[in-house]
Amino acid sequence: MPETILVTGCAGFIGFHTAKRLLSDGIRVVGLDNLNPYYDVALKQARLERLNGQPGFTFIRMDLANRADVETVFRQGRFDKVIHLAAQAGVRHSLTNPHAYVESNLVGFTNILEGCRHTEVKHLVFASSSSVYGANTRMPYSVHHRADHPVSLYAATKRANELMAHAYAHLYRLPCTGLRFFTVYGPWGRPDMALFLFTRAILEDRPIEVYNHGKMRRDFTYIDDIVEGVVRIAQRIPQPDPAWNGDSPNSATSNAPYRLYNIGNHRPTELNEFIDVLEKKLGRKAKRVYLPLQPGDVPATYADVTDLERDAGFKPNTPLEVGIERFVDWYRQYYRV
Ligand SMILES: NC(=O)c1ccc[n+]([C@@H]2O[C@H](COP(=O)([O-])OP(=O)(O)OC[C@H]3O[C@@H](n4cnc5c(N)ncnc54)[C@H](O)[C@@H]3O)[C@@H](O)[C@H]2O)c1
Repeated sequence: MPETILVTGCAGFIGFHTAKRLLSDGIRVVGLDNLNPYYDVALKQARLERLNGQPGFTFIRMDLANRADVETVFRQGRFDKVIHLAAQAGVRHSLTNPHAYVESNLVGFTNILEGCRHTEVKHLVFASSSSVYGANTRMPYSVHHRADHPVSLYAATKRANELMAHAYAHLYRLPCTGLRFFTVYGPWGRPDMALFLFTRAILEDRPIEVYNHGKMRRDFTYIDDIVEGVVRIAQRIPQPDPAWNGDSPNSATSNAPYRLYNIGNHRPTELNEFIDVLEKKLGRKAKRVYLPLQPGDVPATYADVTDLERDAGFKPNTPLEVGIERFVDWYRQYYRV
């Protein structure tokens, strides 16, 4: 019997690509999403259309914050594994809409944990974020550093997810792995993120807002590299770490079946440089409006991927030039521009 995996957020950017990959690997996928209007619902629906009709795919439209509904899905679903990618994403939006983060990322996550616990799911893999490093400045960011100073509510909910998962791994021996993604980009990407916003504005001859005066550094990570990491890690069910010691606790492992990994390109790029590449691929110049660092944002991200490479036998390696070109090709085709 092929495995059945629940993929939450399957109409979202990363969930869509993950579900597509699992289906092509012959895995049965139950995809769940509430198709909320945080950004263009038509884009979510278009992603979903590409999954619907593929053999082995079932879609459930549901809000994870609804406890009774989530209980029913888990009872009926008999999932081998859960890849939990649904969340209220976005740092800036969390300054103005805090409750959406509490509902999806805290209440929704609790419902996922409970569902996994009561139906003995073999592995819960969930999306965390580079934003958990918050006020840390030691680079590259390592999963072995403490990450206790989030600078946005979004980051605080993602760090909370890691801690909540650890409690369930400890109490109920539910194997849990948290993946800290670093600025993901690629075809079918998110309309609220820089690459999408910049591309649209440049093609419409509008100015673009460049934060931290273009000096912001991001570890831009191509979507296929993220998916490769997710799929490989999902196959590795975490075991308790015999070397773990409560006197000097390692943040990334535990005496419970629990692990954390970074998935990032480990090549931070300045925003100005990123825009240079985009201009080249679009064959047009951007009108750059330089602005200061925005509240909740951090000036740089840079992933240490030693643990990922050791345990998954893989690290992200798609060059920016290649990834941006694929995004631009997709954008032009999808929006017919
Ligand atoms: N894209 C990135 O750069 C990035 C970086 C770090 C972490 N992440 C995390 O990765 C995950 C996927 O991100 P993405 O970029 O694909 O975002 P996305 O917004 O495109 O996808 C999230 C999906 O989850 C769904 N969703 C949200 N709340 C829900 C709820 N309560 N019930 C059911 N469905 C719900 C949304 O409708 C959406 O389709 C998220 O957890 C995000 O926080 C993303």
